[in-house]
Amino acid sequence: MKKKKIRPHPHIKNVFISGSLERPKLYTKNAIKGKTIYGEKLCTDNGIEYREWNPYRSKLASIILKNPSIKFLSKRSKCLYLGAASGTTISHLSDILTNGIIYALEFAERSIRQLIQNTSERMNVIPILGDARFPVKYAKSIFTDIDIIYQDVAQPNQAEIAVRNCDYYLKEEGILILAIKSQSIDSVSKSEKIYKKEKRVLQEAGLLILESIDIQKYASDHIVFIAKK
Ligand SMILES: C[S@@+](CC[C@H](N)C(=O)[O-])C[C@H]1O[C@@H](n2cnc3c(N)ncnc32)[C@H](O)[C@@H]1O
Repeated sequence: MKKKKIRPHPHIKNVFISGSLERPKLYTKNAIKGKTIYGEKLCTDNGIEYREWNPYRSKLASIILKNPSIKFLSKRSKCLYLGAASGTTISHLSDILTNGIIYALEFAERSIRQLIQNTSERMNVIPILGDARFPVKYAKSIFTDIDIIYQDVAQPNQAEIAVRNCDYYLKEEGILILAIKSQSIDSVSKSEKIYKKEKRVLQEAGLLILESIDIQKYASDHIVFIAKK
C-alpha cells in the first residue's frame, strides 16, 4: 500500500486531495478498511486508509475536479442515485455521506447483484431494484426526504426521467445532478443540440439550471447539469 501526503479538499467535507490544487488527485476515506470495489488504489497517511477516486471511472469525481461553484454535498445529504451500476461512484459517495443515506436504484439484475455484494457492509447504502422511468414503483423503498438526485442512466429521455423523479422525490430547493450522454439520446445529431434540448426539458419543468459542466475530458459525449428545484 502506498504512503502519500493527503489533505482535506478545500471545499468538500470528506473528500481529500494530494498533489497541486491545479491538478489534484482525489480520495475518500475508506469506510471498510482493506476493501476495494473497482481495483482502485489504496493509500495511507497518518494511519488513515484512503481510496483513490478515479475521474475516468466516476463522473462525480470528474465533476468535483471541475470545481463547480455550488457546494452540493454534505455529510448528512440524503441522495437518490439513479443508475447505480455495481457501485463504483456509490462506494465513494458512501465514504462521503457518513451521516446520510444513498438510495441506489438500478434496473439490471446482474449489476444490482454486484452492487449488493459491493455495499453489503456499507450501512448508508440501500440498493433498490427498479426502473428510474417509473418513480412511483419504488416509493415504498424511500423513507426520507431527498436532498440530492444524482442521475447517470444511459437512456434516450434522460431529462424527462430526471424531471419525473424530481417531481416525485426531490425536496424544495433540493439539487439535481444530471449526467447527460448525448450518444444515448441521438447518435446522429450534434451533442450541443442535444444538450440544449435536454436543458429545455429541465427548465420547462421549473428546474433552475445552476451550472453546466463539461466533463468530456473524462467521459466523452457527456455534459452535467446541476439544477435546483
Ligand atoms: C453509466 S452506468 C452508471 C455508472 C455509475 N453511475 C457509476 O459511476 O458507478 C448506467 C447505469 O444505469 C442503469 N440504467 C439504465 N437505465 C436505467 C433505468 N431506467 N433505471 C435504472 N437503472 C438504469 C444501467 O443498467 C447502468 O448500470
